[in-house]
Amino acid sequence: MKALLLCGGEGTRLRPFTHTRPKQLFPLVNKPILFYILEYLAVSPIREVVMITGTTGAQIRAAVGNGEKWGLRITYVEQPQPLGLAHTVLIAEEALGAEAFMMYLGDNLLEEPLSDIIQTFARNYAEGRLDELVLVHEVKNPSRFGVAEIEGDRVIKVIEKPEAPRSNLALAGIYFFSPEIYNSVRNISPSTRGELEITDAIQDLINRGQTVGYRRLKGWWKDTGSPEELLSAQKMLLKQEKKQIRGELFRSHATGRIQLGDNSIVENSWLKGPVCIGAGCRIKDAVLGPFLSVGDRVEISQAEVEKSILLPDCRVANLSLTDSILGERSRASARRPTYLEAPRFPHRLLLGDDSSVELQAKRGRKTRYY
Ligand code: TTP
Repeated sequence: MKALLLCGGEGTRLRPFTHTRPKQLFPLVNKPILFYILEYLAVSPIREVVMITGTTGAQIRAAVGNGEKWGLRITYVEQPQPLGLAHTVLIAEEALGAEAFMMYLGDNLLEEPLSDIIQTFARNYAEGRLDELVLVHEVKNPSRFGVAEIEGDRVIKVIEKPEAPRSNLALAGIYFFSPEIYNSVRNISPSTRGELEITDAIQDLINRGQTVGYRRLKGWWKDTGSPEELLSAQKMLLKQEKKQIRGELFRSHATGRIQLGDNSIVENSWLKGPVCIGAGCRIKDAVLGPFLSVGDRVEISQAEVEKSILLPDCRVANLSLTDSILGERSRASARRPTYLEAPRFPHRLLLGDDSSVELQAKRGRKTRYY
């Protein structure tokens, strides 16, 4: 079976980070999201991948190549405009051929091994119990997702972002389609947002009498489309990391699972795992973590940083940060150390690549930084 891997799209919700990179290459725990997916595929029965790319195709091709590194054969299909998930099926028809395939959204991460999921589909499809299979995950806020209504072991209705959802089963970004999907995509029209919606195509399959089955994903599932979701996915990934200290700790304290890369030096600091620090970093007088990843060559001094992502070559000084994402080569600092304030007033910053912020003190009865 082939996989259709979607790496086009605009990633508007992830600006400013997607101004300078495709969201699929955004690093979580210092590894691009797309590499996690290719690793899932590498240990699955799938060997051939048709990759959809958009305007950022050159960056994706440079990072992934022909897939050899993962034992995969990757061919590329360019989508000139992000005309919707279902549109990618149409443009990939020739590359996919007249066989069932798996469609995977290039910004989705999951805990359950793909092999188990693929085998469920392959077995039931071969035995004629279903024609298509969607993966679902129970969510608290179904109105933000495509939602599946079920009856017995079948999906009877799919609705995109319903106002009054009749089920809490969100469609996770993994689908198995028979070649009937091509006819369904041809049957549907663009939605009000101008896209060919995959939910409309699935509804058309159901309306035409196809048996669309569903399977609940085991473990966690994350769609990494927004900064909040990136931070939440990174939390899950950090929990899976192993302890590995290659750099050096001086007069410092480390608790929990810590990764410290080659030539990184931590001085007079407290690392509260899980924390992942890349290579060549300089950390001084800091309290870091939990749930923090720090890219290569980052410099942090007199700071407290938790639940955040710091991309390579950025610098943080005199600050207390939480739930923040700092782009490559960005700078965030305050004139005087805010991290010493009691009670703490951590800042939340989303800073694009090459951006800088310097917080100024406003004097009053209490000193605050703006
Ligand atoms: P989405 O997150 O639905 O869309 P997007 O990437 O354009 O993001 P935003 O809504 O923030 O602007 O896309 C899910 C995945 O599918 C993602 O990996 C991008 C990919 N995709 C395509 O390849 N082609 C498309 O036309 C669309 C809409 C998405």
